[in-house]
Amino acid sequence: MDVIRIKGGIPLKGKVRVSGAKNAALPIMAATLLTDKPCTLHRVPNLSDVRFFGEILQYLGAEVEQIESETWRIRAQHINAKAPYELVRKMRASICLLGSLVGRLRHAEVSLPGGCIIGPRPIDLHLKGLTKLGCEVKIENGYIHVNGNRMTGADIFLGGRFGTTATGTANILMAAVLAPGKTRIESAACEPEIVDLCHMLTAMGAKIEGIGGHALTITGVENLHGCEHHIIADRIETGTFILAGAITGGDITITDSEPNHLRALLDKLEESNIPVTVNENGDINVACDTQNRRPVDIITLPHPGFPTDLQAQMCALLSVTPGLSIITERVFPNRFMHVPELQRMGADIAIEGPSAIIQGKPGLSGAPVMASDLRASAALLLSGLAASGETWIQRIYHLDRGYDKIDAKLQSLGADIARMSVEEMPKDLQAEAV
Ligand code: EPU
Repeated sequence: MDVIRIKGGIPLKGKVRVSGAKNAALPIMAATLLTDKPCTLHRVPNLSDVRFFGEILQYLGAEVEQIESETWRIRAQHINAKAPYELVRKMRASICLLGSLVGRLRHAEVSLPGGCIIGPRPIDLHLKGLTKLGCEVKIENGYIHVNGNRMTGADIFLGGRFGTTATGTANILMAAVLAPGKTRIESAACEPEIVDLCHMLTAMGAKIEGIGGHALTITGVENLHGCEHHIIADRIETGTFILAGAITGGDITITDSEPNHLRALLDKLEESNIPVTVNENGDINVACDTQNRRPVDIITLPHPGFPTDLQAQMCALLSVTPGLSIITERVFPNRFMHVPELQRMGADIAIEGPSAIIQGKPGLSGAPVMASDLRASAALLLSGLAASGETWIQRIYHLDRGYDKIDAKLQSLGADIARMSVEEMPKDLQAEAV
């Protein structure tokens, strides 16, 4: 197992290119199952989640080929409908196979994914949507069984207690594009990744109106064809680099990104007195010193609100921003596993219900810490970059699930960061195995 060692305190400088979006790539890969024709995907990020999803598609019978470093060709000529527990439990996003299998085969057997460290992840809205489409849905022996033989277009309200659902919307879209008649999804998620999926489906011959809004109208077609699709830039990776520039008081430019997908973050950084500019090519520059930052209050919400996937990283920044900041998590109210680790680095954070109350300090000090999930790992990285002394991060496989070569990219910006095996880490700093 690998660990990361960071010697903090170096302002980052230079240019970095962001990769394709993980949360767009996964449902888009699932959508390739909707046709027996080949689909070519460009700007596929090099991530363990993506490689693993490719293996699941192969298990289901698809031919999956990585033809260039960021280009994949997938052909699902003959596929079967069962995604077993041993695959699905390793990756929650496998749930978005449900819609594509039902759309294509009128039948799906997908294991329930099981627990998740960031809190409860129900799929009631996915199942409600499929039921509204006329599918028979039952849960038996840990599997979701869907019979879609009588599937037909319907009016579906997909809003829940925590707002919209991203993968739920993806699932219903993928089933509805091949269901006869008209489907209207109200309270649909409008995340850029869902918009990207809609563009891919449209390129395959699907008929979708209202793309980018909360009401989608889908007119079912009989067949879809293959397509070539470029995946959008990863807005969460972009935001993480912006925050890396901000937390180190650096001067970095992020290229090939889509600033319009990050308005809520850019707005909060302006309020926090962190200068971020966007040039005519869409490149984002953050150049700041660490002195003038101001505390801010943040509430995470579905898009276009502040993304929950940047909450942990923002928590890291606000820990070193003198003054009182409050972050309230409205999407995953328990998503604060990074907090005890940030506290080990000296952060002053109290959790009150779904809120983190942060008393920002001028600095943190390096410590051995443990990554618990993808975005928590990113928060530890950022804190390590800003802290004095050495930070060692264990369990960085979480990071590799969603960030394409982030250690190499940070190194190219001047960070003193090294990946090594856990055996190379001083024994007295290693956390006990659990
Ligand atoms: N929810 C329900 N019922 C449902 C579905 C969702 O109550 O049937 C609730 C969830 O419990 C949560 C909220 O609705 O409180 C939003 O969940 P959503 O379904 O939108 O999340 P998701 O689709 O499972 C995706 C991303 C997550 C990201 C969330 C929120 C993928 C593969 N995953 O998850 O990404 O945090 O949307 O934006 O797209 C990550 O990349 O680190 C990550 C966790």
